[in-house]
Amino acid sequence: LAPVQQSLSRETPSLHPKFFYDEAGSSLFDAITRTPEYYPTRTEVALLQRYAGDIHDRLGQPHTIAEPGAGGCEKVRLLLDAWAPDHYMPLEISRQCLLGASRKLAQDFPAVQISAVCADYCQAFTMPQSLSQPGRVVFFPGSTIGNFEPRERLDFLRGLHGLAGPGGALLIGADLQKDPARLDAAYNDRAGHTAAFNLNALTHLNDSLGCQFDITGFRHLAFYNADHERIEMHLECLQDQQVTVGDRVISLTAGTRIHTENSYKFTVEGFSALLTRAGFQPAGCWVDDDNLFSLHLALVM
Ligand code: AVI
Repeated sequence: LAPVQQSLSRETPSLHPKFFYDEAGSSLFDAITRTPEYYPTRTEVALLQRYAGDIHDRLGQPHTIAEPGAGGCEKVRLLLDAWAPDHYMPLEISRQCLLGASRKLAQDFPAVQISAVCADYCQAFTMPQSLSQPGRVVFFPGSTIGNFEPRERLDFLRGLHGLAGPGGALLIGADLQKDPARLDAAYNDRAGHTAAFNLNALTHLNDSLGCQFDITGFRHLAFYNADHERIEMHLECLQDQQVTVGDRVISLTAGTRIHTENSYKFTVEGFSALLTRAGFQPAGCWVDDDNLFSLHLALVM
C-alpha cells in the first residue's frame, strides 16, 4: 500500500504496470492481442513459425527452455514442437495460470519434462534440482522487455544471462520503432480493449487494496513519445476527485494524468548493442517483411 500511496502522491502520479495483471486484466490483455491494430503478438508468432528451424540451426539442440513470465505458455509450443528439448521450465507468478498451462502442455508434449516454478521472475528463486545443468535457452517473447525502464532493463537482461548460464542463450522479442500512427493505433484499438485494460488497474487497486477510485472519472490516453522512443499510457482524471488509498486521501485535480505504462520501441542495432552490454554475444536477428517486430538470439559464452 505504501508504494502506491507514494507513487500517486508525486507531482507526476504513476502506478506500476504490474497492477494491470489481475485475472480480468490478463483476459483483457488476451483480447488486445487479438485486435486488428495490435500487431506484435501475431507478428512474433509468425516469426517463430517461420524461423524456429533456422534459430535451431544457429543454436544447436537445447536441453532446456526456461521462460520467465510464461503466462499461458502458448508461444513456446512452437519451440517445443520444432526443437523437442528435454525440459521446459515456465516461471509464472499466477499459480492458477501456471498449473492450468503446465497440465495442458504435459498432455500435448509427453516427451518434455515440465518443471513449473511459481515465482515472481523479477525476484530470486530456487532452481529445480533437475534443471541445475547450465546452458539453458531463456525465452522472453512479447517485447515485455519494452515495459522495463532503461535503468532496470540492463540489470534484468544480466539476470537472464545468469539464468541461461555458460553455454546458454537468450531468445527475446523486441518491438521495433515505426510510423507513430501505427503505434498509436495499436494502443488505442477501436474495440476499446486497451482502454479497459488501462482502467482495470484502478479496479484492481479497489479490489485488492480497498482503494476507492471512481473509474468513470478517468479516461485512457496512449501516445508515442518520440523523444523517449516509447508508447506512454496514462489515465487522465476527468474531474477533481479525492481518492481513499488506505489511510490516506489523495486529491487529484481534473486533467491530472496517472502514468501507468511505458512500452519502449527499439531498433535492431540498438537492441543488439543492449544485449552486448548485458554480456551476451548477439547471434542472429529475425524481422518480418514489414519491419514491425524483431526476434533476437544471443549467446552466453
Ligand atoms: C506486455 N506488453 C509487452 C504490452 C505492450 O505492448 O507493452 C502491454 C500492453 N499495454 C497495452 N497494450 C499492451
